[in-house]
Amino acid sequence: MTLKATVIADADFVISKLDRRLFGTFVEHMGRCVYGGIYEPGHSTADANGFRQDVMALTRELGPTIVRYPGGNFLSGYDWEDGVGPKEDRPVKLDLAWHSTETNEFGTNEFMIWCKQTGVEPMFAVNLGTRGPDEARHFLEYCNHPGGTYYSDLRISHGFKEPHNIKFWCLGNEMDGPWQTCAKTAHEYGRIAQETAKVMKWVDPSIELTACGSSQRLMPTYGKWEYEVLDTCFDQVDYISLHHYMRNDGNDIKEFFAEIEALDYFITEVAAIADAVAASRRSTKRIMLSLDEWNVWYKAHTPDDLKKPGWPKAPPLLEEIYNFEDAMVVGGALIVMMNHADRLKAGCLAQLVNVIGPIMTETGGPAWRQTIFHPIADCTRLGHGEVLRLKVDTTTFETKSQGDIPHLLTAAVRDPQTGHVAIYALNRSTEDAMELDIDLRGMGEGLALVAATELHHADLKIVNTKDNEVIKPAPNGSATVKGSRLTAQLKPQSWNVFAIETQQ
Ligand code: AHR
Repeated sequence: MTLKATVIADADFVISKLDRRLFGTFVEHMGRCVYGGIYEPGHSTADANGFRQDVMALTRELGPTIVRYPGGNFLSGYDWEDGVGPKEDRPVKLDLAWHSTETNEFGTNEFMIWCKQTGVEPMFAVNLGTRGPDEARHFLEYCNHPGGTYYSDLRISHGFKEPHNIKFWCLGNEMDGPWQTCAKTAHEYGRIAQETAKVMKWVDPSIELTACGSSQRLMPTYGKWEYEVLDTCFDQVDYISLHHYMRNDGNDIKEFFAEIEALDYFITEVAAIADAVAASRRSTKRIMLSLDEWNVWYKAHTPDDLKKPGWPKAPPLLEEIYNFEDAMVVGGALIVMMNHADRLKAGCLAQLVNVIGPIMTETGGPAWRQTIFHPIADCTRLGHGEVLRLKVDTTTFETKSQGDIPHLLTAAVRDPQTGHVAIYALNRSTEDAMELDIDLRGMGEGLALVAATELHHADLKIVNTKDNEVIKPAPNGSATVKGSRLTAQLKPQSWNVFAIETQQ
């Protein structure tokens, strides 16, 4: 059977301008993300800084806008001072988060050079586990103050005359999680976040700050945590974070698809809690949301994936191998994120390379694209402008965890400057093709389809390997635009992208 779905997209009905920082990613000092990932001196493609050029080229192709650093759980025991200055003087320390040995040969300045070369904005985080406001203000002074003070002159003495001007900062990481080094109660965290935010904004009022929300929606303190934390630091922060890792533990594609709905609820709920705090003080301020860790992650979750014995240096950890169904779920999550563009202003796919990453490498060997690479690249490449508020008519299917959910998930982004429109469509039926009909209203004459691609495979479990990238976009020859109507056949279980331009 063929399902039918109709959509109305009108240029006048806009959810919000899309903040391109929604398409970010994350580099943590863990496993082979930094060492053996973005940085591997001695690798045949490494430049003078030790940056793997094959990984950098794939990162540019992936197209993230902002990259969070240096953690993650690693952050909560990290001393930023260890990672600056002459490499030979940097201490080697135990990393308690991942039971690894950290050489510190890569640190803040190396990351900033890597960001500049790659063409991405940095998102930094300060350690509110073992440390606090004092180190945070010194770190910010080191990074952003022009000069003439101890820490800014220290940066200059390290060879960086110009301030880094890092704008986006996270106040700690997953501070509600018992696994976190020096986890805190909501009260303890709210207070330290408040004081840290206060002094950081005194050092540099132009920065934006994110308070830690719950480390997942299933945390027992979820909801109460957000309320109490924001009730404490509402005046000092700009964002609250969300972390969402989608799982397929039951090997049931319908339930796996429903994990996307859980993200939808999560975003709506956190925005509502933030607004409840605003209401309690009759404030017009709106706290925005930063989904600063998200992905599919459940296969590489055994004790051995999380920790290797013997404090190794950069051991392989969380090296999730992504299959085709994971790529669809990642695409669906991106659609949900775009459709929440009014409140969700940043997102970081965790992580960039090797550690639950869209890019995989072999140490000393090649780098390649995992399946999830493609929906992300589709969004970073074409998702510019305003997210449209669509009217969607689609069939539904039943799930145990989220009830009836729509077969079609879709988002449309239109750039009012160029008139370009990108439409993303996920057909979540595993059995049935779908006839998609989109009425594009108020977008002018001469609409033309410039590209239509699909990701599809009959085998949900198929993976890409270094020798064979099976999952990659293929043309969808069924798509046409006539007048203001886009029609296309979507294969069952397929991720589809349509790029439309005005030919005038
Ligand atoms: O991304 C992997 C880990 O997941 C991060 O270090 C932590 O913040 C989260 O629990």
